[in-house]
Amino acid sequence: MFETLTKAPADKILALMGEYAADPRKEKIDLGVGVYKDEKGVTAIMTSVAKAEHRIHTNATTKTYVGISGNKGFNAAVRELVLADTVDAKRVRLLQAPGGTGALAVLMELLYRAKPDATLWLSNPTWPNHGPMAVHAGFKVASYPYFDAKTRAVDFPAMLAALDKLGPNDIVLLHGCCHNPTGANLTPEQWDQVAASLARTGAFPLIDLAYLGFGDGLEPDAYGTRAVVKAVPESVIAFSGSKNFGLYRERIGAAIIIARDEAQADITNSQLMNIARVTYSQPPDHGAEIIRTILEDKDLRAEWEAELAVMRNRMIRLREKLSDAIKARSNSADFDFIAAHRGMFSLLGLPGEAVEHLKKDSGVYMIGDSRINVAGIPEDRVDDLAAAILGTMK
Ligand code: LMR
Repeated sequence: MFETLTKAPADKILALMGEYAADPRKEKIDLGVGVYKDEKGVTAIMTSVAKAEHRIHTNATTKTYVGISGNKGFNAAVRELVLADTVDAKRVRLLQAPGGTGALAVLMELLYRAKPDATLWLSNPTWPNHGPMAVHAGFKVASYPYFDAKTRAVDFPAMLAALDKLGPNDIVLLHGCCHNPTGANLTPEQWDQVAASLARTGAFPLIDLAYLGFGDGLEPDAYGTRAVVKAVPESVIAFSGSKNFGLYRERIGAAIIIARDEAQADITNSQLMNIARVTYSQPPDHGAEIIRTILEDKDLRAEWEAELAVMRNRMIRLREKLSDAIKARSNSADFDFIAAHRGMFSLLGLPGEAVEHLKKDSGVYMIGDSRINVAGIPEDRVDDLAAAILGTMK
């Protein structure tokens, strides 16, 4: 049986996690996988989450199935969090999914069932798992321009020109906020133009919303998603609760369908439920029940929002500190973009050899394309990191 197989390609983020774990050096710095760390370098359980878990532990009476669509209270709360009153709830259906990646997987399969001939367009660059997932779903994959390596910002004219050429046989994967890996994001005005382009061409939006609240705040971060959903008749969103609720290992996300009308929403949702049934059947509940408990309770929700703000502001502060430290040492504004970017990541623009040097000589781990997770920067070692980065450029 297995002699027919060859080794599968390694995922570069997971491979780096393994390398970092195996490095015995105490002073090593992990800027790899997108996991938030606090000032102690710990991915702590959020207090609001711990309180919700305590309530669940105290009050739960059953472990029976929750149903194919998952936890209804979670689904309603996520719909409100992501969409507010952007569209009539009658057009919206949610399926609780195992993580944001699980949501993306079932949505890609749904889109493939609907339009197997479609081309799925990814931003250049994008999260390294998007391409393999789209290929696995069966799609032809193409990429649209996104990041300008010179300015370290979005090349918006090029992006818009590419989107304007698409049509109803195209699916466009958009990062709802906090672009991964670049950290360069669209302004609200640019989102409006993207939304208008999609409405004009009929290209279909698949929005990956994995970092809601990690950029500028819950409302500003939802702006792009809402602008697109409002402008077009149909769209889908993959929401993740991994980062903003710190629930990584609970694997909690949601696949959101916004259909033309209620009847179409029901048909499309039946297909999505069918995909879940033949893939993993019913979803796990714990992460969903935590999020439901938090979002439905005024006090817990306020506490969660405050904790999310602390994480967000810390990432912004680390961005400023690193770009200031590099500027102080180099007397150049070349890395100012780090402070202008938002979300967990920035793409530093270092060549592959420099990334390797940083790992070998300084124990600084980042993805091979020089993506850093800013939340992994130890606050007391910002200057060491600045020196190490500049050292690779000599
Ligand atoms: C990342 O980009 O580091 C995260 O989304 C984690 C992952 O699964 O790749």
